[in-house]
Amino acid sequence: MSSVKVGLLGLGTVGAGTINLLQKNNDEIARRAGRGIEVVCAATRHPDRPRACSTEGLRVTDDPYAVVDDPETGIIIELIGGEDPAFDLVMRAMSNGKHVVTANKALIAKHGNKLFEHATKCGVTVAFEAAVAGGIPIIKSIREGLTGNRIEWLAGIINGTSNYILSEMFYEGREFADVLAEAQRLGYAEADPSFDVEGVDAAHKLTILASIAFGVPLQFDRVHVEGITHVSREDVAYAQELGYRIKHLGLCRQTDAGIELRVHPTLLPERQLLANVDGVMNAVMVMGDAVGPTLYYGAGAGADPTASAVVADLVDVVRAFNLEPENRVPYLAFQSSALSDLPVLPVDSVSTAYYLRLEVLDEPGVLADITRILSENGISIEAILQKEPAPGAENVPVILLTHRVQEQRMDRAQASMEALPAVQGRIVRIRLEQLQ
Ligand code: HSE
Repeated sequence: MSSVKVGLLGLGTVGAGTINLLQKNNDEIARRAGRGIEVVCAATRHPDRPRACSTEGLRVTDDPYAVVDDPETGIIIELIGGEDPAFDLVMRAMSNGKHVVTANKALIAKHGNKLFEHATKCGVTVAFEAAVAGGIPIIKSIREGLTGNRIEWLAGIINGTSNYILSEMFYEGREFADVLAEAQRLGYAEADPSFDVEGVDAAHKLTILASIAFGVPLQFDRVHVEGITHVSREDVAYAQELGYRIKHLGLCRQTDAGIELRVHPTLLPERQLLANVDGVMNAVMVMGDAVGPTLYYGAGAGADPTASAVVADLVDVVRAFNLEPENRVPYLAFQSSALSDLPVLPVDSVSTAYYLRLEVLDEPGVLADITRILSENGISIEAILQKEPAPGAENVPVILLTHRVQEQRMDRAQASMEALPAVQGRIVRIRLEQLQ
C-alpha cells in the first residue's frame, strides 16, 4: 500500500524533530501503522533558513494555505502554535477532508469544542496528544487506559519552565528573576515567558486534561490561574523546613457540587513522588476510583519527546482512516452526546490547606491576635514557625500551616489579620495539598 502523505505547518524544533523521527523509525512506524507515513510538504515563515532536518524531497513554502490546500495530503500536522492563523488553517484543512494532528494547547483549550464539531461534520479527526505534557502519553492513558474508572482528581506539573525555576530556587537558593532569565537563554520558556510563569500555559493543558478526565466541555475561561511570580526564595526555604516542596500544579477534582479547575503554586509533602519531579520534567498524577493513584512522568517539551507524541497521533489517525467518526475514540473520552454539565466551582468555594507567611512586629500579643482571628474563622493550625528577626530588622516572619478550609473563610481571616497594626504588608498565602 502507498504511504500516507502528510503536510506540515511549522518547520521549527518540533517540526524538524517529527521529520527526523519519521525517517529514523520509518520501518517500525510502518509496521505499526500498516502503511508508511511521509511528510511531503511544509510551510515555514523562512523557507531559506537552515533546518535541523533534511528537507530533501520536501516542498517547502512560506504559504501555509498552500499546504492545507495541497490535494496530495491526507493529514496536516499543525505546529505553528497560537490561535491565529492556526484556527483558520486547521478549519480549512478539515473542510478539505484532511485529518489534523496538532501540538497546539491554546488552540484546543480555547477552540476545541468548535474544532471537534467541525471535524465530525467533515468526517475527519483531530488528534492532540502533543498538546499536553510533551512526550508523556497522558491523553491516551486517561482517555483509553483509565476508561473503566471514575476519575476523582488529577494533579500535574505541566509547565517545565516553572518547574525548572522552582527547582533551581529550591536546590540552589536562587531568585526567581535570575532563573527565569537563564530559562529564556536555554530556550525552555515560551516566546512570551508570561505564558509559562503566569500559569497560562499550564491552564491550557489543565483545561484539556479536565475535560478528558470528567467528560465536560473545554472551559479555559473557568480555570483559576496563578503563576509562580510571587513565590520567593524564602518561601521555598521555609516550606522545606516544614517538610514540603513548592510546585506549580494544575489540579482538577470532581465533586458532587462541581469541578475544581485551578492552576497555582502548591506546597506538597516532600515524600510525594510528584514533589520530587525536578527540572524541566513534567508529571501527572491521576486518581481513578478503581486503579487508585497512578503517575505519568517524562519530558514535557523538546524536539524528540514532542515528536514522539505527534508521530503516535499520526499512527492512530492512519489506523483509524476507515472508521466512521462515531466509531473513533471520542475526543474528550466521553461520547459528545454524553458530556456532563457539571459546573466549574468558583475558587472561593474550594477547600484547601494553606501556607501563610506574615511579617509582624516583634511585640507581645501578636501571635495571640493571629491565632484568635484564625480560630474565629474556624481555621485550625497544623504547624507554626517563628523565625528570629534578620539583623537590624524590626519584623519577624511567622509561618503557619493550616488544616483544610474553604477559601472564603481564609479570605476573611486574611483581611482581618492584615488589618492588625502589628502585621506588616500583605500576607503570603500558598495552597497546600496532601494529594491523598
Ligand atoms: N513552555 C512549555 C513548558 C513548553 O515550559 O512546559 C511545552 O508546552
